[in-house]
Amino acid sequence: MIVCKTKKELAQALSSLPKGSIGFVPTMGALHQGHASLFKRARAENDIFAASVFVNPIQFNNPDDLKNYPRNFEADRKLLEQNGCDLVFAPSEEEMYPQGEAVKSYSFGALETVMEGAQRPGHFKGVGVVVGLLFELIKPDNAYFGEKDFQQVAVIQDLVRQMGIHTRIVPCPIQRAEDGLALSSRNALLTPRHRALAPEIYATLKKSTQMANQTCRELKDFVCAQIAAVPEMELEYFEIARPDSLQSVPDTEPAAGNVGFIVVWMGKVRLIDNIRY
Ligand code: PAJ
Repeated sequence: MIVCKTKKELAQALSSLPKGSIGFVPTMGALHQGHASLFKRARAENDIFAASVFVNPIQFNNPDDLKNYPRNFEADRKLLEQNGCDLVFAPSEEEMYPQGEAVKSYSFGALETVMEGAQRPGHFKGVGVVVGLLFELIKPDNAYFGEKDFQQVAVIQDLVRQMGIHTRIVPCPIQRAEDGLALSSRNALLTPRHRALAPEIYATLKKSTQMANQTCRELKDFVCAQIAAVPEMELEYFEIARPDSLQSVPDTEPAAGNVGFIVVWMGKVRLIDNIRY
């Protein structure tokens, strides 16, 4: 596996590899089995499997979240190697965003003003900038994204349309711990007590699928009540939205065919999940 720290090294490495399809998985490191599921697909479906590890400061709207974000490049490198990665791009902040150099920024309209976009101002702008740059540098044929960040997948699909590039976006299913908690780098920051209670989020979402033919209002009331019953949990939002436009479904309509999106705080940790109805 070639490790590239600079754009120049990356360009050299890409031209040194045999010609063939490139599968790309962008990450922020602190890699776990959720990421590994993307790596396995990228490895299986392409001649070359490239990944990036970069904690992108401009997509964090909360300085503490950026400061506390787990980082462990040696462990990341091992997991990538084990999954047959050919090339990993792991630049410094200065290498990615040289001082005084303008970045290309994109607008995602209504996709970036709801849910994660509303709660984390500037988040998707930052994601768009970094993924746009990475796509320009790596020119992947296929790029793999997890549905844990469902809204991010929609934003990236729009990014590819705006950039007019050939990259195919491949959405990949959410990977969960045995107890149902969606795998996340932030899970490592949970206290043991919070980690033990956290599976209640997915348990609630799963139960709510039995109500898919009821109205969104009834379903929202159910989910809010279940989460409120756990004093250690604070619900940031639960929304039911269209899978393509991500616009909210009216309360009077049934949930079926749409997606439920949830964010719950446990202590200082923000947990995100979603489910199809
Ligand atoms: P990161 O949070 O490291 O996630 C990298 C990719 O792994 C994303 O596509 C994410 O959805 C996927 N992923 C994480 N946990 C998953 C799980 N439990 N199941 C399935 N997929 C999972 O998302 C980012 O980084 C950044 O925003 C990035 C796209 C790299 C831009 O900085």
